[in-house]
Amino acid sequence: MIIAPATAADARAIGIVHVLAWHETYRGIVPDDVLASLNPAARAERWHRVITTEGGVFVLRDGARLLGFAAAGPNRDDALPQQGEIYTLYLLGEAQRHGHGRRLMAAMAGNLRDREITSAALWVASANTAACRFYDHLGGTVIGARTEQRGTWTLPCVAYGWDDLAGLLRFSA
Ligand SMILES: CC(C)(COP(=O)(O)OP(=O)(O)OC[C@H]1O[C@@H](n2cnc3c(N)ncnc32)[C@H](O)[C@@H]1OP(=O)(O)O)[C@@H](O)C(=O)NCCC(=O)NCCS
Repeated sequence: MIIAPATAADARAIGIVHVLAWHETYRGIVPDDVLASLNPAARAERWHRVITTEGGVFVLRDGARLLGFAAAGPNRDDALPQQGEIYTLYLLGEAQRHGHGRRLMAAMAGNLRDREITSAALWVASANTAACRFYDHLGGTVIGARTEQRGTWTLPCVAYGWDDLAGLLRFSA
């Protein structure tokens, strides 16, 4: 398994993995009709734009297969003091619990450090308890909560923060 910066050629596979991972992760958390409406091509288009303009996207590959991805960059939430933000982190079920999530977190911490960003936050659905345990394990601290209004449905979320990303870099091995 390899973790590498995403290229434009990865966008299509990222779109597919993004939708599959939402189905695997959010069944019972996100309404079924919302999950059914997710469109891999639309996601791919968005990821192509992010990869070619902003960067900060990493992929987990097993040979030619893409099994996960993650993205980070400047913090978009003025309410949180951290400089950076982990925007996205998704692994397919078959790739989970092998340490790849923590290696992707280390890759993002390294990318943020290269941009002179030394702290970061992220938002996670409160009902996604597995991910919350993962961020607890990586030394994240719960620093906020909000309920996101997403069209006709709502999603209670909590924010995790790392005031010093150095602790995450040790997972890069
Ligand atoms: C959450 C996620 C990124 C974690 O990545 P991972 O590769 O599965 O996790 P790791 O193997 O690196 O786990 C590191 C540690 O985190 C904790 N952890 C990870 N998954 C856990 C789970 N499901 N339940 C409890 N603790 C968990 C454990 O302490 C684990 O160490 P251990 O395996 O030695 O016990 C991954 O499982 C995933 O993509 N899940 C689905 C999508 C998702 O929820 N993304 C986050 C959205 S904010």
